[in-house]
Amino acid sequence: MNNPLFNAVALTLFPEMFPGPLGISLAGKALDKGIWSLNALNIRDFSTDKHSTVDASPYGGGTGMVMRPDIIDAAITGAKQILPHGKVIYMSPRGIPITQFLLEEFKNQDLIIVCGRFEGIDQRVIDHHDMLEISLGDFVLSGGELAAMALLDGCVRLLPGVIGKADAVTQESFASTSEYAGLLEYPHYTRPPEWMGRQVPAPLLSGNHEQIKAWRLEQAKLITAARRPDLIKKE
Ligand SMILES: C[S@@+](CC[C@H](N)C(=O)[O-])C[C@H]1O[C@@H](n2cnc3c(N)ncnc32)[C@H](O)[C@@H]1O
Repeated sequence: MNNPLFNAVALTLFPEMFPGPLGISLAGKALDKGIWSLNALNIRDFSTDKHSTVDASPYGGGTGMVMRPDIIDAAITGAKQILPHGKVIYMSPRGIPITQFLLEEFKNQDLIIVCGRFEGIDQRVIDHHDMLEISLGDFVLSGGELAAMALLDGCVRLLPGVIGKADAVTQESFASTSEYAGLLEYPHYTRPPEWMGRQVPAPLLSGNHEQIKAWRLEQAKLITAARRPDLIKKE
């Protein structure tokens, strides 16, 4: 494929972490086929001193180091040579949480993803580039790389040609485009029909598509109500 459908540049102190898990299975095959592209640039390469310093101690005191704005800015300029229209995002526990809705938006644009380390990056470079801060969840990781990979994996599997059956991504948890919209997915069963004394629910063996659909929808509603009542829309 000449023109990938989705392009990303990761800015990181550990480019050897990429593509990592994104180089195998569905995402890896799609990368090989050129359905999407990924570059990982080493932020340290944009440092200008002889020790390749990227961080400094925080003004106002405190523990840890902060990544310098001039070096992050130079790395972003480097990334823009690859993706001139790339949207600059910063993986950050302070950011908006990744959701399926967000992935649907992001899969249609080039992304320049800043992966922080230490205490994070200087606020001025976040403001200067109007970066959108994106979080993997309410916990703190050692760096932004794993969060960036989760974001990329979620985007890539939505691209046409990545997952064999197109409806696989419209029928699952959080999908916005099916009768299960906004619900967690119903339970799955496969062979054998009886295992450890546990039966496959009768509707799934009925061969009646309407009955199967109704059972799955009911299960999806029950599971969502029990586990994530916050997802159920208030009418
Ligand atoms: C040790 S963390 C810094 C945490 C920061 N001092 C705070 O308290 O919010 C280093 C880097 O890991 C990344 N990171 C940590 N937790 C993350 C999360 N939940 N989602 C996305 N990125 C995260 C960010 O890029 C962050 O700059």
